[in-house]
Amino acid sequence: MERIRTVKELESRLESLRQSGKSIGLVPTMGALHAGHKSLVDRARAENDVVVVSVFVNPTQFNNASDLATYPRTEEADCKLLEDCGVDFAFIPTVEEIYPEPDTRVFDLGAVANVMEGPMRPGHFNGVAQIVSKLFAWTHPTRAYFGEKDFQQIAVIRKMMELEGFTHEIVPCPIVREADGLALSSRNVRLSAEARAVAPKIRKVLLESLRLKDLGKTPAEVETAVVSALNGTGDFEVEYYSIVDAVTMQPIGAWEDAGREGSVGCITVYCGGVRLIDNIRY
Ligand code: PAF
Repeated sequence: MERIRTVKELESRLESLRQSGKSIGLVPTMGALHAGHKSLVDRARAENDVVVVSVFVNPTQFNNASDLATYPRTEEADCKLLEDCGVDFAFIPTVEEIYPEPDTRVFDLGAVANVMEGPMRPGHFNGVAQIVSKLFAWTHPTRAYFGEKDFQQIAVIRKMMELEGFTHEIVPCPIVREADGLALSSRNVRLSAEARAVAPKIRKVLLESLRLKDLGKTPAEVETAVVSALNGTGDFEVEYYSIVDAVTMQPIGAWEDAGREGSVGCITVYCGGVRLIDNIRY
């Protein structure tokens, strides 16, 4: 595996491969890689001639300076995992390389970005659109891989692609979980032993909520039940739980309102001061 530090080198290495007809799979990451990322990389490896993984903690998508400062950075361990997965190129640039001058672009991401994470993390999705659009423009991937844990992010990236005219395939990959159900996240290392012990309850409550739908409860009733089941334990503080259309990200009033992809319940919850996200399909 080659470690690439500059945009120029990335473009020139990929250009010759693209000319010779090779397909390129791109996996954008912020490092601190775990089995969830590995599942994306393995899928990219299976489906493409060339696999590029970017490892870059993108400052423009953080709306909290201390979150950015404390975000785990583990380049050597990341590269070991990527080598073992048979990745061809790890793109590991500096902030100056990506943003030689401030990126002032404001993307009109519309309705998909105006709910849930949008209002909770102002500027976050615009920052994601900035970095992902740059990575797409430099790599011209055949396919790009994203985890469904960040369900809304995938909808936002599709919108950015529409705005910018990117036409390659997006491959959403299922959430990878610990044996006890906790969704894998780079932030899980911040959980105290006590918080880690209770965190699987999030998945448990979401799974139990499927039964409420079968019992005839409305989306709003299911949302309320999920929030009170978690907040009622005293171990959690739910920021939001929204049951939305899986494509438009808009809340649904009735189950029948969901379109062709159905509905998804998206949760953000603080557990021992750590912000965790998860989701479930209804
Ligand atoms: O999902 C992430 O890790 C990041 O938002 C991404 C897509 C790598 C952009 O920085």
